[in-house]
Amino acid sequence: MRILYAADYNDLSRKAANLIGAQVIMKPDCVLGLATGSSPLGTYKCLIEAYEKGDLDFSRCFAANLDEYRGLTKDNDQSYAYFMYENLFKHINIDMANTNIPDGTNPDAEAECKRYDEAVAALGGVDIQLLGIGNNGHIGFNEPADEFPTGTHCVDLTDSTIDANARFFARREDVPTQAYTMGIKTIMSAKKILLIASGENKAPIMYEMAAGPVVPSVPASILQMHNDVTVVADAAALSILLEKAPELVEGAPKA
Ligand code: GLP
Repeated sequence: MRILYAADYNDLSRKAANLIGAQVIMKPDCVLGLATGSSPLGTYKCLIEAYEKGDLDFSRCFAANLDEYRGLTKDNDQSYAYFMYENLFKHINIDMANTNIPDGTNPDAEAECKRYDEAVAALGGVDIQLLGIGNNGHIGFNEPADEFPTGTHCVDLTDSTIDANARFFARREDVPTQAYTMGIKTIMSAKKILLIASGENKAPIMYEMAAGPVVPSVPASILQMHNDVTVVADAAALSILLEKAPELVEGAPKA
């Protein structure tokens, strides 16, 4: 795992977008594993700017998103399908037919998860998987558990995740309590992984993710076992790592 220092959110967004952009240039028909949440918004803005400048062409790219709330339709403004369309897809030249996301409206969880795993496998797997990280160490919606879940599955969201995501909804009661998410096995099968994190509230979990034991109670800790992970995080998110294990972080200014 390489952990790259970014001065602030802008810097991290530009670095992350450049790493994704390099993938698109090197393999124009690549499969981009995409994420939602507030962390990737700046990265998506930078990718849109690069597209507008003519530096990137997404016309042959495929996309596979990590997760979707169970029960929300694509046109619900809190669904991840809506988020991806509004914050990235509608601004670039990706073919919407090449974009994939679990269908939150399929009431048959088992069938939907199987369908999604098959869809990702049919693409030949993910070339670069962008990840955010939940305050409790979740990636996608793989919540802390007794074991690492494997394929796409239906999860009950933890109270801490519901609390954290309530800021996007009118009322806490509106936050769905379940989601469909790619499993840890699917995420770990990506050829490259790019995890981004910003802000002081992520500092404790960033330390556990990178320097703590690999345990399913911190799902993101499994990333220590992947052979091509790049973490780009800002100074605030790296603050505890910089204090306790500075040797793990590249590019930080000398204290
Ligand atoms: C959500 C998403 C995750 C995301 C996490 C962190 O729960 N399912 O994929 O990484 O929140 O979000 P944020 O980037 O807003 O902190």
